[in-house]
Amino acid sequence: MPLDRTLKIAPSILSADFADFGREIEAIESEGCDWVHVDVMDGHFVPNLTFGPPLCKAIRKHINTVMDVHLMIAPVDPYIEAFADAGADIITAHLEAGPHTHRTLQAIRATGKKAGLALNPGTPVEAAQPLLDLCDLVCVMTVNPGFGGQKFIHCQIEQVRRLRALIGDRPIHIEIDGGVDPETAPLVVEAGADVLVAGSAVFRGGSVENAEIYGNNIGAIRRACENVTIQAA
Ligand code: DX5
Ligand code: ZN
Repeated sequence: MPLDRTLKIAPSILSADFADFGREIEAIESEGCDWVHVDVMDGHFVPNLTFGPPLCKAIRKHINTVMDVHLMIAPVDPYIEAFADAGADIITAHLEAGPHTHRTLQAIRATGKKAGLALNPGTPVEAAQPLLDLCDLVCVMTVNPGFGGQKFIHCQIEQVRRLRALIGDRPIHIEIDGGVDPETAPLVVEAGADVLVAGSAVFRGGSVENAEIYGNNIGAIRRACENVTIQAA
């Protein structure tokens, strides 16, 4: 089956109300999100701490779409099974998280889950080239990982363009993570991205109640990209 490269919006629940994930997920799915992005941080690879596998498992019960788990942890390999068992559909690990990313991607695929590779803003996308045949998704970070609400790094747009060309006709999603809002979304879609992670632009200050005040934030991002064609290889 050919890869679905139509636009997908993946709200990051890092910006949701942590005490009410069930309601927050229900709200974003009813607003029309395509995937739910779960940011796992270890206080070591990135200077922040979030969720482990038991919480992911609890969250999973509320997700009817796709659970997209972004691991910002090092090491990765000892925890892959646990996140697979927690119900992740996609498990993404960072290229910078260790010396054996090839093995990590193999281990993710061995669990039957889709394998994602994330790249920090300081990493040239060309570093992903030898690994592309093991990837179902490449995530280009448009902020330094660790926190929501940071400013979009514009020079990453050029990296997305180069990654799109490197991927060619391989069935690989290009995901953008960080600082995505209705203004920056069309820029990365035009460069070749098909999955947009958005935290603060969706939850607007930390709860589903704010999302209600601001209206359909997912729809606003989608509408901003309406007339933009996702760059082909
Ligand atoms: C950053 C995380 C992102 C983050 C995005 O380390 O990987 O998923 O939550 O948040 P915004 O959209 O607020 O930049
Ligand atoms: Zn993320």
